[in-house]
Amino acid sequence: MIYINSALPHVGVNFTEVDFTENGEPRSQEFDDVYFSDCGGMEESEHVFIGGCDLRERLRNRALSVRSSSFSDYLVGETGFGTGLNLLTLMNFHKRLQEEESLSDSGIILPHVTFLTVEKYPLSPEVMKKSHSRFPYVEKESSELIEALSSQKLHTGLNTYEINPEFTLKLMIGDITACYSSVYTDHPVDSWFLDGFNPKSNCDMWSVQSMKLLAGLSSAGTNIATFTVCREVRDNLREAGFTLVKRKGFGRKREMLTGFIGSSLN
Ligand SMILES: C[S@@+](CC[C@H](N)C(=O)[O-])C[C@H]1O[C@@H](n2cnc3c(N)ncnc32)[C@H](O)[C@@H]1O
Repeated sequence: MIYINSALPHVGVNFTEVDFTENGEPRSQEFDDVYFSDCGGMEESEHVFIGGCDLRERLRNRALSVRSSSFSDYLVGETGFGTGLNLLTLMNFHKRLQEEESLSDSGIILPHVTFLTVEKYPLSPEVMKKSHSRFPYVEKESSELIEALSSQKLHTGLNTYEINPEFTLKLMIGDITACYSSVYTDHPVDSWFLDGFNPKSNCDMWSVQSMKLLAGLSSAGTNIATFTVCREVRDNLREAGFTLVKRKGFGRKREMLTGFIGSSLN
């Protein structure tokens, strides 16, 4: 169960305007930054977040046999929902992994995924849809997300969408610190996708206060991934209790960052 214990009223939201570049990439007016990389977008999301959080192994380890009557859930937390591309990439990855012969033939069912995320400057479903049109590979996932988002008016605080039988979206509308300080989850977040804009212009998303809130919703075994390796972010994550490991970055980026709570991952 996930709920938000916030004094903030549930009020309707005004969607944020974005610019689209000549290549059709959405760009934030507020932060003068792109929502995803201009060299790959979805591939970068899969490399950095899905690969960085070892989700192939971790989802398989949490899988159940079809004969089991229990329910298994994997909780992914994110900072910065934006266009929802990370979620679409994860939905597509989950589907491909489930279809792999070794799993489907042996009657193994991957866990359901709850995707808990936050957004202070929400985009309209129309803008999201336009942003996704660059990625025909996730057309089905995009339609499912847009249909869910269009079915229910977004309000400040926690919004829940059952996207399909495998995915639930818990989208908090508000500032990262206000939302992650008032959300309650009955089990720790398994993996965090840290995806703010450039830390230089978007300090709130990477502050030590924010990182400590994420650590408070984590436990031994929780892991994290992010594209940034900048010094300040590393210092804040370490101060919040994460042990960090650099890995090979995507495309032109030499490095990216992964990490976990505690001093060893067991
Ligand atoms: C790099 S974008 C995220 C991209 C996104 N994950 C995607 O798949 O499209 C960073 C996001 O963080 C949001 N954001 C920035 N500052 C925030 C804050 N203080 N609280 C909550 N969200 C914030 C931005 O509006 C933006 O959507």
